Amino acid sequence: MDLIEDIIARAKANRQRIVLPEGTEERTLKAADRLLADRVADIILIGNPAEIRELAAGYGLCHIEKAAIVDPADHPKKEAYADLLFRLREKRGMTPGKAAVLVEDPLYLGCLMIKAGDADGEIAGARNTTGDVLRPALQLVKTAPGMSCVSGAFLMFTKNERYGESGLLVFADCAVIPDPTVSELAEIAVATAATTLAITGMEPRVAMLSFSTKGSATHEKIDKVVEATRLAKEMAPHLKIDGELQADAALVPSVGAQKAPGSEIAGKANVLVFPSLEVGNIAYKLVQRLGDAEAVGPVLQGMAAPVNDLSRGCSSDDIYKMVAITANQSIGIKAAKLKG
Ligand code: ACO
Repeated sequence: MDLIEDIIARAKANRQRIVLPEGTEERTLKAADRLLADRVADIILIGNPAEIRELAAGYGLCHIEKAAIVDPADHPKKEAYADLLFRLREKRGMTPGKAAVLVEDPLYLGCLMIKAGDADGEIAGARNTTGDVLRPALQLVKTAPGMSCVSGAFLMFTKNERYGESGLLVFADCAVIPDPTVSELAEIAVATAATTLAITGMEPRVAMLSFSTKGSATHEKIDKVVEATRLAKEMAPHLKIDGELQADAALVPSVGAQKAPGSEIAGKANVLVFPSLEVGNIAYKLVQRLGDAEAVGPVLQGMAAPVNDLSRGCSSDDIYKMVAITANQSIGIKAAKLKG
């Protein structure tokens, strides 16, 4: 897990402001305390300040005072954020009255802080569903320039060093788009390759997975993967990508050589792009549970600023790592903006 150590070191070297809307949630508070002690990020907790302090004392946490605490019911920028929310969503039926209520919702408030430039990224989901975390982010933070969809990747630290990069693989989309269109699938591939390079430093070798390898079966679902592969190559001509491939052909050199001779990806893939959310979500959980792999994510990609979702079964340590990853994404996005 040296990679996670590197990610934490990069976050420490360029501290980002990360907002945690679930500021009264136990695992979140414990992660915040460690993050503050280790100076990994500047933490903003959303929640009632007295309740946060009481909980922190009860858990024996001594660094929470270093966090900025924003009370959703009463803080100096409440009116300004409500006005921002109204202006951003007016065309979608937002009224000043609705905005005044919604601005007290910590998940909306976190995204408004990012939109207003008061935070660099957000992590939530220890207590809330993926849909509830993502909806405000999709509505307010929106996609990055040139991107049309947001998807979710997992870093899979498997115990099998023969596969991927010494056992590390990146899976997507495992979290967001239930049934991607051809162009969304192509975009997921391109975005996952970028995430892989940015967070892990490995050169992405992308396999577009299906239940067929190079025409071994025929079905419209296979055609979709073939077309998405073609489109992804058009979108990113230098990207190392191939499809359609079955999972064994993508991962196992002998099977890849037999089923897809001449492919530069078959048998060597370190990025697996699944044809739908059903497959991606089930696959990552099976590898995590049956294969005893560590699954870090979902890392949401394609957003204008990083907002990441947690599994409700996450540990405090997962939150700690996801804050460091979110900070790295923010550093990357800011660097890309500076480059123009
Ligand atoms: N990328 C970019 N924008 C999007 C996306 C996307 N993937 N999906 C929706 N949007 C935008 C819409 O364009 C819309 O914008 P607008 O209001 O400005 O026009 C806004 O988001 C809201 O769209 P809705 O369609 O109303 O949102 P919806 O209620 O469908 O929610 C969501 C979107 C939450 C992502 C939904 O697709 C979803 O629930 N996906 C599955 C999530 C999930 O349950 N994952 C599995 C668990 S995660 C895990 O196990 C780790």
